[in-house]
Amino acid sequence: LAVLVSGTGRTLANLFDAIDAGRLDARIAVVGADRDSIRGLELAREQGLPTFVVRPGDCDGAEHFSRTVFDAIEAHGAETLVLAGFLRFLPIPEAWLGRVINIHPSLLPAHGGKGCYGERVHRAVLAAGDATTGCTVHYVDNVYDHGPPILQAEVPVLPDDDVERLAARVFEQECHALPEALRRHLA
Ligand code: GAR
Repeated sequence: LAVLVSGTGRTLANLFDAIDAGRLDARIAVVGADRDSIRGLELAREQGLPTFVVRPGDCDGAEHFSRTVFDAIEAHGAETLVLAGFLRFLPIPEAWLGRVINIHPSLLPAHGGKGCYGERVHRAVLAAGDATTGCTVHYVDNVYDHGPPILQAEVPVLPDDDVERLAARVFEQECHALPEALRRHLA
């Protein structure tokens, strides 16, 4: 696997746990990010994994950014790419369609799209008064937060929920959903 991160790396840490516990038969070949000094990269380095950073500001547009990212991934021999809390739009080259997997903290197509990520998703769910939310693991196509779902897990929204409580309950499901979706994909 190659894994891309933009933030705390909790999703990456969950993959380490699943692999260590034998719940996911995979190997992480490389971890990449779109900026330096983030916890996700530190976590990868602590595990002795190779890392790379591609800064969008150093690239000439989204296609150039994408080409640079996929060149780095291919150089490490990865066969599947996981977007683990990676928040930037990434155009997918033809050869990688069906091999890039994203996890999103809502029941897509609800509460997805540009600007709708992380805590903002849970705020939108509470503002909409939804009774149910959850997470979606899906193949990535060339539309933001779009592409064939691999699995969705539902989570109830409780009357006394705030963003933090709801986010924690959804993340708990994400920790099961991502390894399970990867197992299905790899099988
Ligand atoms: C997760 O909740 C994931 O679903 C979300 O980012 C969080 C992981 O970040 N992804 C998105 O919102 C993608 N649109 P972390 O692993 O850095 O904590």
